[in-house]
This record gives sequence, structure tokens and C-alpha cells, in this order.
Amino acid sequence: MFEPFRILVVYYSRTGTTRRVAQLLASELDADIEAVRECDGPEARNGASGYLRSLIDALRHRRAEVMPALLDVSAYDVVVVGGPVWAGGACAPVVAWLTLHGERIRHLALFCCEGARGSATAFKQMSEAAGKAPLATCVITGRDLLGRRDGKKRDAFEHTIRQRMAAHRETEWLA
Ligand SMILES: Cc1cc2nc3c(=O)[nH]c(=O)nc-3n(C[C@H](O)[C@H](O)[C@H](O)COP(=O)(O)O)c2cc1C
Repeated sequence: MFEPFRILVVYYSRTGTTRRVAQLLASELDADIEAVRECDGPEARNGASGYLRSLIDALRHRRAEVMPALLDVSAYDVVVVGGPVWAGGACAPVVAWLTLHGERIRHLALFCCEGARGSATAFKQMSEAAGKAPLATCVITGRDLLGRRDGKKRDAFEHTIRQRMAAHRETEWLA
């Protein structure tokens, strides 16, 4: 019998949407979960000034300062990383976290939450920061949440992750 895959879900969330999606993914994947923590604390992104700061960070590709992960990312088979789309791209804290830890991630999967657009650029920026391509991606839009389509999208994402990991394990066994 094969050991179950060890999965870690890592997320950044400014207003709670990505946190909720990350919590559901972690529970459905039987994964550990950890939030990206900024050195300034979450308050710095609260309210109108926090929104503006986040927007400028994303537009200018300004580097955020994040705390090192509490869990050892290299101990997991897959690290699933998610964050909101900011200004048509990835949010600054997730880019910073992936830049810091990407090298130690074995297999990466990415998800993002968005109002309506920007996920393709966000995934590109997240993959570049991590230095590796994701084995699966998932976008949850505001409409998905309103129309209760997010569960189906999570299911498909989780299925792809498990399927690709099983294929990797088989290849590693044959090698
Ligand atoms: C600074 C900023 C910029 C944003 N830019 C976009 C955008 O370009 N495209 C989009 O679809 N949503 C955009 N959004 C909306 C968020 O991606 C969306 O509300 C997301 O679900 C928020 O996730 P959170 O609650 O986990 O922070 C932006 C939000 C913020 C704060």
C-alpha cells in the first residue's frame, strides 16, 4: 500500500475569501494549512489605505516582507499555494512567500480568488516566483461563490492534484 500524499495548503488572504477556500481545500485534501504572515502584521493592509497600499504593491511589483514558514515545506509532497488577484496579477505577499520558499517545494499547485479577471497573469507570476510550474491550478471567482460553483471547482482541482501525484509516484517507482 502507498502512503497518502503529504499536502500543505498555504494562503494569503486580505479579506477572508481566500482563507475560506484554503480551509475547505485543506479539509478536503486532508492537508496541513498555514497562512502567509507579513512582517508588518495584517493591520497594514486594512481599510482604504491598506487597499491602496496593496494596489500599489501589485502595480509596481513591490516586494512584500513575509515571515518564514512555520512548517517545513520540504516535508510535503505537494504544497498548494493560493492568494487573491491584485491589479490583474499575483498579490505581493504570495509572490514574496514563493520567492522565499519555492526552491524547497517538491510539487506545487496554485489557486487564486478574483473578482473577475487576472488569474492567468497571477499564476505566471506565482510560478516564476517559485521557480517551478504548477501541476494543477484553480480559479475561484466572485461569481463562482455566488452561484455555489466553487465546490465543483475545488473537486476538479483536488482530483487533478491526486491524479498527477499518482502519476509522479509511478514514474519515481519505475525509475
Ligand atoms: C488591491 C486589490 C486589487 C484587486 N484587483 C483585482 C483584479 O485585478 N481582478 C480581480 O478580478 N479582482 C481584483 N481584486 C479583488 C480580489 O481579488 C477578490 O476580492 C478576492 O476574492 C479577495 O480575496 P481575499 O478576501 O482573500 O483577500 C482586487 C482586490 C484588491 C484588494
